[in-house]
Amino acid sequence: MGYLLGVIGNPIKHTLSPWIHQQFMNETSINGIYRPYEIKEDELKESFNLFKKMNIDGFNVTIPYKETMLHYVDDLDERARSIGAVNTVVNQGGKWIGYNTDGRGYIRSLKQSYADLDTFVKNVLLIGAGGAARGIYDALNQESFPVVDIANRTRERAEGLLDSKENHVETSIYSLKEAQQNLQQYDLIIQTTSMGMTPNNRMMPIDLQNIKENTIVSDIIYNPIETSLLQTARKKGARIHYGHGMLLHQAALAFELWTGKTIDPNHILHELEQKLKG
Ligand code: ATR
Repeated sequence: MGYLLGVIGNPIKHTLSPWIHQQFMNETSINGIYRPYEIKEDELKESFNLFKKMNIDGFNVTIPYKETMLHYVDDLDERARSIGAVNTVVNQGGKWIGYNTDGRGYIRSLKQSYADLDTFVKNVLLIGAGGAARGIYDALNQESFPVVDIANRTRERAEGLLDSKENHVETSIYSLKEAQQNLQQYDLIIQTTSMGMTPNNRMMPIDLQNIKENTIVSDIIYNPIETSLLQTARKKGARIHYGHGMLLHQAALAFELWTGKTIDPNHILHELEQKLKG
């Protein structure tokens, strides 16, 4: 029998993960099924027990259960523990281990687009302090960028990102307005809030008036592919990075955890883009 895999979340109807993982299975000649499971909060425990009975090999976790899942797994990988969220669960000999591939997936995607990242980028601005920002901040801390500042609507939430003992970058916390006034000091600006996501396509957390030429502006939203923020950045001559690369790379890292197979997912990036455009 092949691999039994899936994704849990709510809502889950529009997820492209089954399609992505089917491409990975085809490419590696692995047999398996990857199913979406829309699960309500009060069904979570029952579903988890059912997964155990089915002896499912692993599953992804998406909104709104990434943090809840911390309490369901038997053990946590150190990155997931440090981030405080799980996006991938692996059945390791009957024990359920929680991982988080979001941040590493993000960095991989960024590096594939910008080979000069390590030499070019010194100062990073991270906009947002939710679950996605936590994963990315953790991954940025594994890199060699000296400064990673955070701008968020709610200051206390941004301060929460500094709790981990493993942080070694220098970080200042700013309001969105303060960051906006000092954008010229950043080489890489990463947008992780939900502002700009369909149906709020016109929204932007920050005005890009003050960015310097050649700055990389990255948005993790992939619906739409080009957010208003990225459109503005492109028109100002900035280099831009789209969000669907992260979607693909976090999936490839999860697939590797389940099957041991390394995937370079870049060749389906264009097809994914077409699917997202509908
Ligand atoms: P995710 O897990 O996708 O990161 P989240 O944990 O709900 O989602 O985090 C959402 C992020 O978007 C937060 O940084 C949030 O700011 P707050 O911490 O102040 O709530 C930000 N956000 C959402 N709506 C916003 C808005 N209208 N204006 C500014 N920031 C917003």
